[in-house]
Amino acid sequence: MGMKVFIETYGCQMNVNDSEVVLSILQDAGYTRCMDISEADLILVNTCSVRDNAEQRVLGRLDVFRLEKKKRPVLVGVLGCMAERLKEKLLENEAVDIVAGPDSYRELPRLVSAARLESKQIDTLLSHEETYGDIAPVRMDSNGVSAFISIMRGCNNVCSYCIVPFVRGAERSRDPESILREAKSLIENGYKEINLLGQNVDSYRWKNPENHADRVDFARLLEMVALLDPTVRVRFATSHPKDMSDGVLYTMAMYDNICKHIHLPVQSGSDVMLKKMNRKYTRESYLERISKIREILPECSITTDVIAGFCGETEEDHRQTISLFNEVNFDSAFMFQYSERPGTKAARQFADDVPLEVKTERLEEIITLQNEISLDRNILCVGNVYEVLIEGPSKRSPLDLMGRTSGNKTCIFPARGHKAGEYVNVRILSCSSATLKGEIVED
Ligand code: SAH
Ligand code: SF4
Ligand code: F3S
Repeated sequence: MGMKVFIETYGCQMNVNDSEVVLSILQDAGYTRCMDISEADLILVNTCSVRDNAEQRVLGRLDVFRLEKKKRPVLVGVLGCMAERLKEKLLENEAVDIVAGPDSYRELPRLVSAARLESKQIDTLLSHEETYGDIAPVRMDSNGVSAFISIMRGCNNVCSYCIVPFVRGAERSRDPESILREAKSLIENGYKEINLLGQNVDSYRWKNPENHADRVDFARLLEMVALLDPTVRVRFATSHPKDMSDGVLYTMAMYDNICKHIHLPVQSGSDVMLKKMNRKYTRESYLERISKIREILPECSITTDVIAGFCGETEEDHRQTISLFNEVNFDSAFMFQYSERPGTKAARQFADDVPLEVKTERLEEIITLQNEISLDRNILCVGNVYEVLIEGPSKRSPLDLMGRTSGNKTCIFPARGHKAGEYVNVRILSCSSATLKGEIVED
């Protein structure tokens, strides 16, 4: 009794939110969280499989945990996407006692007890229904200002490079009532920003099982959350270019507290690559979505994800990505080189034939270009005043605060007696490609 759990999280924001669900389940079973591995009776690592380097980092951590186990009795559990992908193979690792996939977290107290009393345990069954809708996540490492709510799980798309549908299972949307309940409780606890999460939020769809005419789509859900409190910001990610509707854009335009930022991963600027990636949109239709955003929401920040060096990518395909980046002028981007994932359509059907040096070179060209574009976009903000939600002290200087604009730009400014959770107006005085610097203008 009174076991202490240490939990470490890799991967996306949904994984962070899952760790909060896991902690809630374990607390209900009598565990307390500890922040130091050396105190833990149970070490959990919530893992990501999206690229090989994400998995390598976790394997490195397992070596550290193995040494910890040599010193004293402690159980180690691997959770999340890598648990789901590697299953029994992970149990072969000396360090690992428990393997639990993303839909098995309710079983954790049982798995841990059984691992302690009997032998190694595994549960990687995926579900069509599990949304953990009734579980109130225990907020971890939170600034008390901004929190995540997962509105759906899984993914029904089959982008050929992507492991997510294999490790997260089929898409399912969470009951809007449970989402609103969670949002209200965050607001009562002083949170000022709610991030709605899903692999593809545009395909959020909920039907009342008792009355099929009662339906909620993403635009409606967004509106319902925005209406809870006009002083609480709402953000969301990720949008899919093939599904992002004008309805969502009009809803964003209607409510000031819906942040003007859209993360719209493009992956490639080449139609040949987009087709092979099975993204189900073209360069032209992607650019049409961008013009629509700019037409309906002229102030909206747009960010993206891109993959360099996908199977068969030629220099010409790469030039198409470069030209798309020049055409769109994204505010920022997450940029990756292609990493083959076993079992995906790309791994089975296409050769991973772009040499590593070429992948790296292309990625670097994209990064250099995007840094210039990000700087240009930020320079456009200098002189303007933005409403900023303060998240806490700046990492670099304790006298400065850090907050974000509605467009999700990080902003640093002298504190002048203000604190986390407050809104302030900040005049931008200077910038880098990553941050805006300014001063509070009191009204
Ligand atoms: N659901 C979101 C994001 C999924 S994963 C979407 O559809 O866009 C986050 C990002 O990781 C992806 O947008 C993609 O750019 C990148 N990614 C996914 N699989 C990858 C792979 N095999 N190699 C390199 N990058 C990958
Ligand atoms: Fe992966 Fe595509 Fe689903 Fe995003 S939409 S999680 S890239 S399969
Ligand atoms: Fe997220 Fe990585 Fe899994 S990106 S869904 S933790 S594979």
